[in-house]
Amino acid sequence: MKFFIDTANLGQIKEANELGILDGVTTNPSLMAKEGIKGHDAVMNHYKTICEIVNGDVSAEVISTEFKAIVEEGKKLAAIHPNIIVKVPMIKDGVKAMKWFTDNGIKTNCTLVFSAGQAILAAKAGAKYVSPFIGRIDDGNWDGVELISQIAQIYSIQGFKTEILAASIRSSLHIVKCAEAGADVCTSPLDSILGLLKHPLTDIGLAKFLEDAKKSA
Ligand code: E4P
Repeated sequence: MKFFIDTANLGQIKEANELGILDGVTTNPSLMAKEGIKGHDAVMNHYKTICEIVNGDVSAEVISTEFKAIVEEGKKLAAIHPNIIVKVPMIKDGVKAMKWFTDNGIKTNCTLVFSAGQAILAAKAGAKYVSPFIGRIDDGNWDGVELISQIAQIYSIQGFKTEILAASIRSSLHIVKCAEAGADVCTSPLDSILGLLKHPLTDIGLAKFLEDAKKSA
């Protein structure tokens, strides 16, 4: 399973990248706003900076909702860097635009996916990634990880090549459960990635080893 970080914060992106296990980055308009990135040029420059830090796919989301405008915006985003993946919402014009991007060699990430039916449409449109939002599904008292399993099963039976990118991750346990459910990628906040490191027995065991090492030093 590939590890993406889900943020537009350059410090966090660098920290995750330095771990050596980072495969890419996802952003969205809310994450960009959180970092205070304002205006077209600033947004484009920010994507470029992220691409220069991480050697992997970087999702940049369109904010247009009409076919022609999505295509024009996506073309500009894709021109920033070869690693840009154009993130397109699961709406009617979005599906049409994703098919256009696929036919024209531009890779896409279909975002705001909450059902298996939407995931089938994203695959049919040739999206490189489909992003089911598992945390938001859990927030509504449904089972987000179960959706990952269902999509994985459907894609396997049907031979769809679209990669399942589990998004809206809320915890380290979500990452583990998504790996178990067959996600190809998990995009997570930095604290959920770092949380995978933690186990009290590791800390206790290391303290004991270091203590004992002093005896034979
Ligand atoms: C990433 O591609 C998604 O935009 C993101 O994971 C959504 O996360 P949220 O539900 O925490 O906003």
